[in-house]
Amino acid sequence: MAAKVGVGLLGLGTVGGGVASILQSPGERHPLVNELELIRVAVRDLNRPRPVVLDESLLTTDPSAVIQDPAVDVVVEVIGGLEPARSLILQAIAAGKSVVTANKAVIARHGQEIAEAAAAAGVYVLIEAAVGGGIPIIEPLKQSLGGNRINRVSGIINGTTNYILTRMAEEGAAYDAVLKDAQDLGYAEADPAADVDGLDAADKIAILATLAFGGSVERAAVPTEGISGLQGVDVDYANQLGYGVKLLAVAERMAASGDPLPLSLRVQPTLVPKDHPLAGVNGVNNAILVEGDPIGRVMFYGPGAGAGPTASAVVADILNIAGIRQASDGPGKVDPLLAAGSWRPCALVESGDIRQRHYVRFKTKDAPGVIGNVGGCFGQRKVSIQSIVQFNASDAGAEIVVITHEVSQRQMDEALQAIQALPEVLGLAAHLGCLQGDK
Ligand code: HSE
Repeated sequence: MAAKVGVGLLGLGTVGGGVASILQSPGERHPLVNELELIRVAVRDLNRPRPVVLDESLLTTDPSAVIQDPAVDVVVEVIGGLEPARSLILQAIAAGKSVVTANKAVIARHGQEIAEAAAAAGVYVLIEAAVGGGIPIIEPLKQSLGGNRINRVSGIINGTTNYILTRMAEEGAAYDAVLKDAQDLGYAEADPAADVDGLDAADKIAILATLAFGGSVERAAVPTEGISGLQGVDVDYANQLGYGVKLLAVAERMAASGDPLPLSLRVQPTLVPKDHPLAGVNGVNNAILVEGDPIGRVMFYGPGAGAGPTASAVVADILNIAGIRQASDGPGKVDPLLAAGSWRPCALVESGDIRQRHYVRFKTKDAPGVIGNVGGCFGQRKVSIQSIVQFNASDAGAEIVVITHEVSQRQMDEALQAIQALPEVLGLAAHLGCLQGDK
């Protein structure tokens, strides 16, 4: 029988603890889990309480000792953050080890460098846990959907913000208290700003775009807005108009082909019609909707964060590498479906060219003709209105909520500028995206 596959773990936090738990209790899982052996574990502090009971002799504070251990075949990086994680991944590749990582921040920024190093060394870097927690989405995009031309990938890909938005909408819970719960449950990043400001979702949509469209995108250029500026009144108005509000990430092709291929990416709070498949995605769950030709639409749904789901994805990747290793009895040529193969130039379109529907709320004087004037400004810029509603009219003023049909950001910005110059308009109080209904 082939030798066991040695696993070295860099990090023993929420996800690392989950991985160690699975490896320590292989019963009733895939038989290959029995062939995985946890060899060494790098931790920051030997005296910290651990999420899982481990033989102390496995522990070291030196990550290089894990990477260089000859019994370690697969290095699992679950430290998070950019450095030293990136350098350790490259060090493992240089040592001829395949790597499994949940690190979306590193992969979104340095994915091409890492994939090229892995290809040169004939090893794998697998990232199933980097997006969507326990949802299998990376390998389906790389393999199962390979016969499709992908047109759009969109979804809810941050568990923390979806958990917060759901509890605020369902219970009217206070933002700070719900964020604390998300941290206690192991959903939130070490710096929760990465979740609530949309940065984690932007990392993930950049990775999904790379896989869907076959080329790396500039992470820093992804327009990103989180939920910290979202006001309860807009969630309430959206609800009255038949929508929920979700932090949505979108990557779409803007042309059939091109060199570079033009893509539109964005992360922003977005109204989702209640009949849309993404509307029922609540709590820590994530969902990713992939639209391609000829498949049409497929949706991947499940828990998007937390120790167990993320560890499930990490172990899936270790099993992939272990299976290939046992079949070939050692590293060598890589399977082109499992490796990150081709890189072609892709370019993000200017933000003014991003097209979508919009939700806007204006504070206005309660004056005759104000709705007509607002509507006129939109019409002059060829922004077609789907609905316009006045809320809360009183002596103190009124609120006008407009939902548009799909327009470019440029048209929308021009119309908003003209509207804000109207004397009866006191200000633009909210501006969110809005998805098309599903019927
Ligand atoms: N903080 C992330 C989330 C963890 O809430 O989705 C999973 O990547």
